[in-house]
Amino acid sequence: TQGYDFVVVANRLAVNRITQEDGTEDWQRSPGGLVTALAPIMAASEGAWVGWHGAPDETLEPFDHEGMHLHPVPLSEQEVEFYYEGFSNGTLWPLYHDVIARPLFHRRWWDAYRRVNQRFAEAAAQVAARGATVWVQDYQLQLVPQMLRDLRPDVKIGFFNHIPFPPPGLFAQLPWRHSVLRGLLGADLIGFQRDSDARNFQRAVRHRLGHYIKADQIYVPLQEEDDAGSQIPGFSADPSRGTAPRQLSAPAPGSHRVAEARAFPISIDTDTIVDLAGREDIIARSKEIREELGNPETVFLGVDRLDYTKGIRHRMKAYEELLHDGDLEVGQACLVQIASPSREGVESYQRLRDEIELTVGRINGEFDTMGHTAIRYLHHSYPIEEMVALYLAADVMLVTALRDGMNLVAKEYVAARKDATGVLVLSEFTGAADQLRQALLINPHDIDELKAAMVKAAQIDPDDAKKRMRSLRRQVVSHNVKRWAQDFLDRLHHL
Ligand code: G6P
Repeated sequence: TQGYDFVVVANRLAVNRITQEDGTEDWQRSPGGLVTALAPIMAASEGAWVGWHGAPDETLEPFDHEGMHLHPVPLSEQEVEFYYEGFSNGTLWPLYHDVIARPLFHRRWWDAYRRVNQRFAEAAAQVAARGATVWVQDYQLQLVPQMLRDLRPDVKIGFFNHIPFPPPGLFAQLPWRHSVLRGLLGADLIGFQRDSDARNFQRAVRHRLGHYIKADQIYVPLQEEDDAGSQIPGFSADPSRGTAPRQLSAPAPGSHRVAEARAFPISIDTDTIVDLAGREDIIARSKEIREELGNPETVFLGVDRLDYTKGIRHRMKAYEELLHDGDLEVGQACLVQIASPSREGVESYQRLRDEIELTVGRINGEFDTMGHTAIRYLHHSYPIEEMVALYLAADVMLVTALRDGMNLVAKEYVAARKDATGVLVLSEFTGAADQLRQALLINPHDIDELKAAMVKAAQIDPDDAKKRMRSLRRQVVSHNVKRWAQDFLDRLHHL
């Protein structure tokens, strides 16, 4: 083939391996919103997806699946440890989420991050047709845009950051901050979740590199593209240090290219959730769930990857105090916490799991009765059908993240509540809070405020609840993930 016209590059491939009943292995399209949004675009154009298939030390040939061309990128066991668990999830993830956990800076992790990013860039360069559009996803691959531009100056490059971009004072801690900025600036369009993320990025570029910026357009000097940074042995440091002199006026034409940086808040596949929420079997399952919980008046629900950014402990503390003070009572209230297993090779995640499980045990030990439990804690992930049944079973959805790029669970809950009942308690530190203004917005660090919101949610006047949920639903239903992808790609093609 002459290559593919539309190429997505993401750490994870768009399919998961499943074992069928007869024991043979097969691939199944990933259920996430990103894949759902991009698969139709892939099938309509000549589309390819470049990503890691999830198993260390395994090389797979490219293959096709449901109209998508899949191009697996291999990672060795050590690269999984240094690039994925290490630099991506031990350095960047905590640094970009307000250092809720302490980021670790290891030169050998950075070295692996560079090498793996180069491999993804080479794979993308190999599959992209002349003049193709290449869309790079997320913090694991921030160096890919410039690496790809060096290999293939003919392609259009987009980048989308699914997680927050930190304020300049925190970003400054990163020993390789200049290289990361230069990597991202290789894209024609750099998308963020919130306006504040795009502003943080622009400020970092201004402070660190001194580039001229006007109306989200960053003027990137052309000679910088053969910067000597990559020649430093061990890639241990950046070529330039500290802040750069700031360019105050637009540079002369021909001396620069333009990269645009702005917000494109992501959403969910609303149609799928709305359809599932209307299905008889799923509605019946939601009633069954409430019965299994002993028919409490108020079901509180938390659904998260088991991650320290999600504020699960804050939520449990508030709930524990409400039980202790007698504002809530077991039997009358129940908290269902789904914590899906995540990044179990990373130490901070192992520690979090121990803490959460200790807390759940303590609270249940103190407040459970023979017939009822205070917290129903489930360390599993579930298919989307069961999740929608849970959304329908829950009177109050608790999203208490300390920092979250967007939080799609909040949007899924809203989409599922077709009859406009139910209350969303939402942390103001999520990207979703920019759009879901009629949720009960809270600061999860303020335990008293969180408690008050939980009580208010449990006792809310039904008319007030309906008014809020209707407004939330208008927002979510009119901004689905297909529109998000289209907005981004339209802008990219326009540039
Ligand atoms: C977040 C990130 C994604 C990531 C997902 C699951 O949503 O933005 O890039 O894929 O978490 O994490 P994992 O490490 O399992 O891919």
